[in-house]
Amino acid sequence: MSAIETLRLAADEAGIGRAAALLREGGLVAFPTETVYGLGADARNGRAVARIFEAKGRPRFNPLIVHVPDLAAARRIGVIDGSAEVLAEAFWPGALTLVVPVAEGAGLSDLVTAGLPSVALRVPEHPLAQRLLRDAGVPVAAPSANPSGRVSPTTAEHVAEGLSDRIDAVLDGGACPVGVESTILGVFDGAPRLLRPGGLPVEALEACLGAPIPEARPEAEGIRAPGQLASHYAPSVPVRLDALSAEPGEKLLGFGPVAGDLSLSPSGDLVEAAANLYAALRRLDALGAGAIAVAPVPEKGLGRAINDRLRRAAAPRG
Ligand code: TXA
Ligand code: MG
Repeated sequence: MSAIETLRLAADEAGIGRAAALLREGGLVAFPTETVYGLGADARNGRAVARIFEAKGRPRFNPLIVHVPDLAAARRIGVIDGSAEVLAEAFWPGALTLVVPVAEGAGLSDLVTAGLPSVALRVPEHPLAQRLLRDAGVPVAAPSANPSGRVSPTTAEHVAEGLSDRIDAVLDGGACPVGVESTILGVFDGAPRLLRPGGLPVEALEACLGAPIPEARPEAEGIRAPGQLASHYAPSVPVRLDALSAEPGEKLLGFGPVAGDLSLSPSGDLVEAAANLYAALRRLDALGAGAIAVAPVPEKGLGRAINDRLRRAAAPRG
């Protein structure tokens, strides 16, 4: 693929206008959301969406999340009723992605849904994402803006490190406040199922519905869920979990009482830890560690998303 010059656009009127125009013209634009940076393209434009897969080196079977500015725009793409509607009204805009049946006349490229009868919809809360989506006026398909299988970007610099000369522009909004990807729920059969823990704690969703939300079992239910690829979200060196100290050659990523070479959160705050996770993995990777050991992180609130990403980072590489 031929190199293109990647524009760095500022978070002002001109930058947002340029980014929106590029999206309408079929360009690839990375933009900040509250979770991680997304790599956006017009979800109705097959050529533009195909360029996302090319730029990321991503396997084609993985469907993409469609980003829209509000519930009204989401309803033009997906069928949102029952518990999906309750959750959308309570948590959008925010770090929640809902997988629902595709609406008639949605007009999406088949590449976005990977031919599935369902679509993943997200209304991001980040003010720049909101302005960009409103200005662009098209539904925006966007995976995380990293080469496939690598750690998601939480700054414009991270995006440039992975995708420079492969995409048209990066809209620079500084660091993403949440730091891990959105929580994904499937609600295509009336019953909500957790497809991916993420930036919105599952406990909050369960409290809203007044019912537990079981995890989807992709193999049993024939759902194409995230993380079919066992190794995902991976730094370039091996990762070892639940470590209290470093073995020779390892760098230790701490949490709470385990100080480590670098800490996700010295005070044991899971929100701070999520926000620091990907940048910390990149820093330890860049320090030339032979391997990364990670201190135990509690399996609650954002800890569920953090542990999910760490387990994938630790999985054998395919
Ligand atoms: O926070 C986020 O969710 C970020 C920002 C950019 O919005 N996006 C993100 O996208 O993490 P991505 O592509 O890295 O992960 C989306 C996941 C994929 O693993 C995909 O398998 C799943 O969503 N997905 C998308 N459409 C689906 C569908 N119709 N059914 C089941 N899973 C779906
Ligand atoms: Mg991703």
